[in-house]
Amino acid sequence: TGTRSMTDKPRVWVSRPTFPGVIARLEPHFEVTVEDTERKLGPSELAARLAGQDAVIVGLKDRIGAAEVGAAERLRIVANLAVGYDNIDVDAMSAAGIAVSNTADVLNESVADYAWALLLGAARRMTAAERWLRAGHWHATEFKAWLGTDVRGRTLGILGMGRIGQAIAHRAVGFGMPVIYHNRSPLPEEVERACRARHVDKAQLLGESDFLVLALPLTPRTRHAIGAAELALMKPTAMLINIARGGIVDDAALAAALRDRRLAGAALDVFEGEPKLHPALLTLDNVVLSPHIASATTETRRAMTSLAVDNVLAMFGHGPHAGRPPNILNPNVL
Ligand code: DGY
Repeated sequence: TGTRSMTDKPRVWVSRPTFPGVIARLEPHFEVTVEDTERKLGPSELAARLAGQDAVIVGLKDRIGAAEVGAAERLRIVANLAVGYDNIDVDAMSAAGIAVSNTADVLNESVADYAWALLLGAARRMTAAERWLRAGHWHATEFKAWLGTDVRGRTLGILGMGRIGQAIAHRAVGFGMPVIYHNRSPLPEEVERACRARHVDKAQLLGESDFLVLALPLTPRTRHAIGAAELALMKPTAMLINIARGGIVDDAALAAALRDRRLAGAALDVFEGEPKLHPALLTLDNVVLSPHIASATTETRRAMTSLAVDNVLAMFGHGPHAGRPPNILNPNVL
């Protein structure tokens, strides 16, 4: 990293290609290095990249703990390009005096839209029907082919009722679906009223939901929050939608339940150990699969990048939030 004088600009490293026009907002204040390919770095490569940086913008593929920042003596902020931050050991960053920020809020609506896309896709068997059509099987239109299930009047369950869960609930009005939810702490009454959702305990949520959407973060407490025991409480006609994080669902248990039709269907955007998938999931026709794209719209990915940039700028005293990154997760370090 060489010797640096006090007049050198601080350095920022961006771990992946994003939106150059947005990253350019850093340039007046920082010396910016951007990885030009989408590649997962191993722990020692990552540590070598972080060493000598004053700020970094990283993504879920970058797992950052005490070891990775051990040699990063100048590092003041790790800005995550995601709302979820299970890739970052926040306690270890706090111990090292490093701020951590996420991209809360700017992706709520895109992710909620996508949860509904998956829900409807599963209910109407869209992706299986498309695979069948593309395979050249459509020779005659049959009255009773590809029958799906209606959503109107069915109960929507939401596990994890934060800002994304609430955005999902709001959309249920148009589909005429009553909403129940479970959260560690019930929402204030006026918020419940605004999204017409009723708090129930977890067993009730599992037993009563026709469509169960997961919208909670992955933490040690939520790992396998949906495993064999929970799946057994669900209706055999129910469908599970995961737009949250791989690891919240025990994918092996889910694949077994789908195979045995103990659960009618699922739609998954996230997987345990992704980009690898549990191989059984790939063989099942009653599951819709997508490659972790719930927040992937041009508008939202750009807004996420912009917010990460805002957090870095703020940490170094620039911009409207000077001194206090707007999405800081460990304000104790300030
Ligand atoms: C998030 O923001 O946590 C998503 O999973 C990645 O966009």
